[in-house]
Amino acid sequence: MAEQSAQKLTVIALAAGKGTRMKSPLPKVLHPVAGRPMIEKVIQASKQAGAAEVRVIVGHGQALVRQVVEPMGVACYVQDEQLGTAHAVRCAKPENIEGDVVIMNGDHPLIEASDIKDFLRIFRDEKCDLAVVTAELKNPGEFGRIVRNRGELMAIVEAKDASAEALKIKEINTGIYIAKAEVLAQYLPQIQNNNAKKEFYITDLISLCIQDKCRVQAIKGNPKVAVGVNNQVELAKATRLIFKRKALQLLEDGVLMIDPRTAYVEESVQIGAGTVLYPNVFIRGRTQIGSFCVIESNSFISDCEIANSVQVRGGSYLESSKLHDKVSVGPYARLRPETEIMEEAHVGNFVEMKKTKFGKKSKAGHLTYLGDAEVGEEVNVGCGTITCNYAADRKKYKTKIGNRVFVGSDTQFIAPISIGDDAVIGSGSTITKDVPAKALAVARGKQFVKENYAVKSTETDSKE
Ligand code: UD1
Ligand code: MG
Repeated sequence: MAEQSAQKLTVIALAAGKGTRMKSPLPKVLHPVAGRPMIEKVIQASKQAGAAEVRVIVGHGQALVRQVVEPMGVACYVQDEQLGTAHAVRCAKPENIEGDVVIMNGDHPLIEASDIKDFLRIFRDEKCDLAVVTAELKNPGEFGRIVRNRGELMAIVEAKDASAEALKIKEINTGIYIAKAEVLAQYLPQIQNNNAKKEFYITDLISLCIQDKCRVQAIKGNPKVAVGVNNQVELAKATRLIFKRKALQLLEDGVLMIDPRTAYVEESVQIGAGTVLYPNVFIRGRTQIGSFCVIESNSFISDCEIANSVQVRGGSYLESSKLHDKVSVGPYARLRPETEIMEEAHVGNFVEMKKTKFGKKSKAGHLTYLGDAEVGEEVNVGCGTITCNYAADRKKYKTKIGNRVFVGSDTQFIAPISIGDDAVIGSGSTITKDVPAKALAVARGKQFVKENYAVKSTETDSKE
């Protein structure tokens, strides 16, 4: 047993095909499924399942595919001409692999590490030479059919080559195979291309090995592992399924959702128990959200760190920002990268911040832009305040506002500028010079009142 589990695992992922049916310039395996390229999901699952090595077969659009997969520490093997799935596996040079090999299509993004581990366990327990993972589908469509004789696995027949009788079979080939490396090295060269597509089919390995009395088994898997992506409809379906799976996982972990069907949360996101998601939220990337937060409808949150008891009100757009405990933002707030909102601060409607640190218990309730700013604690930023951070020299300058500053409405800070603690800025001011602590600064045109002005001008008009 010990020897078996020590067996080396190599995964070969097929990703050289063009994906003609996608009708898209992007190589098929790079199409994102719930935010990540589908080949990335296949590689991730392989690694988590304990693969010591992952060999990716590349061909169409290989320069782009390499950019995504090579940083994940996998080796690419080139298939210059797409002569079929068996030919693709041969390009991975199975003759210099030892141990067990899992072969997967790169277009099956729903596969998880636990699935691979389960299949591998059966393969090893049953001391198989070769196994194919199958699934029962109501509509087997274009999938290869599993042909059995009195229950015994015989062959896989491609839909294009199948008789009317064989097309009725509901058990299909998921495109996942496990083989001993030496079985691949011995039998792959024997596969011929005498079929409808004139391609070398990996599926022919099954009948070849059976004829030669190898131990070959069909392992029945969950139909979800059969979800392959060959066109945009299937891509949308796979995306939907991954979002659904994540939503169910979050519900199990104690996250509340008004309608889990419209919670679009990427797999990489973490959310604490007791947090509520309203319908139609989109939460992406490396976002982490703590407990007892409320994320209201139509909020988009990407790569943010959100602590506990934070309120994100409807229609807010948050990117690469950090929100501390008990912060409230929105409705309709926009936080651009490198913004940090400290404890109990409030950012209200139509407020935009960029590269700004906004202090504890400070408030910017309405219609404000703060960019490249550092705002202290308990500051009140009045409606319509703007930091003029971008100068005619095309450089960005900083605005520093101390603690407990009161900024009257419709103030412009012409950066670089610094406002001392407890200062008061009069409404409608254009502040161009630093303001010391505790000072009052007012910079606006004096009001001019001319009595009966309107009456006089009307009289002039009537004389003409
Ligand atoms: C294949 C199987 C079919 C199975 C189905 C599951 C064969 C002959 N058929 O059909 O039995 O039910 O998967 O989804 O294997 N690829 C290459 N090089 C090639 C050809 C393909 O790398 O020369 C790659 C593709 O990029 C793709 C994968 O292999 O990731 C499968 O190819 P695809 O053309 O999608 O095969 P299916 O028709 O789906
Ligand atoms: Mg396919």
